[in-house]
Amino acid sequence: MKYAIITGASKGLGEAIAKRLIHEQIAIVSVSRTENEEIKRMALEKGLYYNHFSCNLSLEKEVQEVFMDIAHCLFQKDPKEILLFNNAGVIEPIQTVGNLDQTPTIRNIQVNLIAPILITNLFFSKAQLTNTKVQVINVTSGAAIRSIEGWSVYCSSKAGLNMFTQTAALEQAEMKTDNKIIAFSPGIMDTNMQETIRSSSKNAFKELERFKEFKENNMLLQADVVANALVDLVISGNVESGKVYNVKELVGE
Ligand SMILES: NC(=O)c1ccc[n+]([C@@H]2O[C@H](COP(=O)([O-])OP(=O)(O)OC[C@H]3O[C@@H](n4cnc5c(N)ncnc54)[C@H](OP(=O)(O)O)[C@@H]3O)[C@@H](O)[C@H]2O)c1
Repeated sequence: MKYAIITGASKGLGEAIAKRLIHEQIAIVSVSRTENEEIKRMALEKGLYYNHFSCNLSLEKEVQEVFMDIAHCLFQKDPKEILLFNNAGVIEPIQTVGNLDQTPTIRNIQVNLIAPILITNLFFSKAQLTNTKVQVINVTSGAAIRSIEGWSVYCSSKAGLNMFTQTAALEQAEMKTDNKIIAFSPGIMDTNMQETIRSSSKNAFKELERFKEFKENNMLLQADVVANALVDLVISGNVESGKVYNVKELVGE
């Protein structure tokens, strides 16, 4: 049996990934601060294993405790494969350097970078002791490779996530494990994160008007289109470990 752990499954891209995986008969472990009742209903209707774990990914202790619980739950089922989608992310603080507040800055790095590192570490560690293959999908951003004024913290967290992915992949290859780890850049999607971006201030975010135009001109990708492209890749078995995939190459734009 395959199990998928999806952080940030309550809304946006994570919700769309969970729905598509349910369609593929893959068991779901959802992790976020709020539970998405529709996903729960869909999984249970299909007779699939479903579990939601409430976790604030910006709190290191909660991450350690909750993911130890998740690992305990899943590895005792001797799963064939675990798909770990490190998808949850935050854009804030949107602010120029010199005007950053400490709390949202630390929270951003915790959710976008430290939590994925800790969770991946735990699951690769557990996989060493079992026959389970672990495949990690780190949701990154084009902002990892393009500096965007006002987004220094977000850009840095995603750049760090790309490098973590590439380094961990080299190590797994050297150790000749079956585990894989990739990063995936989903493009600009019509989710709550874009609403947050459009409601930021012009002083803090130079490209504000451009991002408002993306929405007005219907240029945003729908989360279900992006999720389908990603899940197609992941279940194809043709994933190139260490690669940073971009949605554009998967949907053929
Ligand atoms: N939208 C875009 O245009 C875009 C572009 C490039 C990359 N991305 C990346 O795509 C991923 C998904 O983004 P999205 O657009 O779907 O965002 P979204 O609609 O804002 O959803 C974010 C998800 O992350 C969870 N989350 C946020 N903070 C959390 C915390 N402290 N603890 C636990 N869960 C937390 C939220 O769950 P709760 O609120 O229930 O906790 C929610 O499910 C992110 O990694 C983002 O950086 C998005």
